Amino acid sequence: MVQEFHRIKRLPPYVFAEVNALKAAARAAKRDIIDFGMGNPDQPPPRHVIDKLTEVAQNPRVHGYSTSRGIPGLRKAVSAYYQRRFGVEIDPNNETIVTIGSKEGLANLAQAITSPGDIILAPNPSYPIHAFGFIIAGAAIRSMPMGPDTSIIDQLEKAVRHSVPKPLAVILNYPSNPTAEVKDLDFYAEIVDFCRKHEIYIISDLAYAEVYFDDFVPPSILQVPGAKDIAVEFLSMSKTYSMAGWRVGFCSGNQKLVAALGRVKSYVDYGAFTPMQVAAVAALNGPQDCIDEMRDRYRGRRDVLIKGLAAAGWNVPSPPATMFAWAPLPEKFAHLGSLEFSKLLLEHANVAVAPGVGFGEYGEGFVRLGLVENEQRTRQAVKNVKTMMQNADAILEQYNKRK
Ligand SMILES: Cc1ncc(COP(=O)(O)O)c(C=O)c1O
Repeated sequence: MVQEFHRIKRLPPYVFAEVNALKAAARAAKRDIIDFGMGNPDQPPPRHVIDKLTEVAQNPRVHGYSTSRGIPGLRKAVSAYYQRRFGVEIDPNNETIVTIGSKEGLANLAQAITSPGDIILAPNPSYPIHAFGFIIAGAAIRSMPMGPDTSIIDQLEKAVRHSVPKPLAVILNYPSNPTAEVKDLDFYAEIVDFCRKHEIYIISDLAYAEVYFDDFVPPSILQVPGAKDIAVEFLSMSKTYSMAGWRVGFCSGNQKLVAALGRVKSYVDYGAFTPMQVAAVAALNGPQDCIDEMRDRYRGRRDVLIKGLAAAGWNVPSPPATMFAWAPLPEKFAHLGSLEFSKLLLEHANVAVAPGVGFGEYGEGFVRLGLVENEQRTRQAVKNVKTMMQNADAILEQYNKRK
């Protein structure tokens, strides 16, 4: 068969696959790899949430199909969360929907609203589904380079002036994966004002709403008056409650977008397993000390990592939020690019990271380190990195000979 599939042709090979294969080979050779490559929480959800899941699963009546919009109790719990955390009113009946993780919601929202050739503004570097959800749906992506020196509003203005058709939607993700950048409410107010004027939808991903470490507390775009006219926001149970494998997230805000997502989902799924949804209600409505513990855990690791790397001669900005450090390549290795540097780090320091180029072309020059190894192993990792930095000249000489 020689026919190729149109959508598959638009999905490039996964950049991380190369590092993952080397990681697997190193592990097979019994090397102890300290793995900062993924964003997978390493702790379980709170005990009472797991207890609720197992308790509800005993009920013989909860094993049938659930509802694709999510059970009413969970939509009400999301609405209550918005009220107490952000002072935002969300109607549980038509302004929020439960998704099978926010990733599924983002992908199906893209399917719901995109016509082939529509222009979507997506951050670059970004969490891959932000751009690829829309690419799969047939959109053309206009990348917005991320970083402290770029202005989103400038990029929106340029896009409105130069793209034909004008953009359908813009994707925002703060606190950002992978860059860990954060934005305040004034930023959102400016974007909402612009997008309302130009009739551009906003899709905001607030997966790291609760994963912050210092004084800055991430706001919701829905706090901006009038935001609901054009914006939806995704939330996730994955990081807040360490429930990544459970696949529970939410999309809230603009009724038309929520309804469009609901329509597509009503055709493609039956919703998350009911006992998981009931347990998610227990997480949202129950004691919240697990969130402080989660923050303390990641903050402790962050401090060990950032201080340790600085002592090793690698200066990495301390992330104020998310579970990632976004590290510019050390000067001596910068010319190699992020993929080659990641491979050398694995070979010489037994440390796995995610090469920045895997998050988009503007991610080149960086690697992402997930705060998913405990403090002791993080300490071991920085020790290994220090040795590697001290031997940089010899390592580079050997690397050049091999090429
Ligand atoms: C920015 C961002 N959005 C969404 C997700 C996926 O969340 P979920 O587990 O709810 O699909 C992640 C996971 O790493 C993420 O970093």
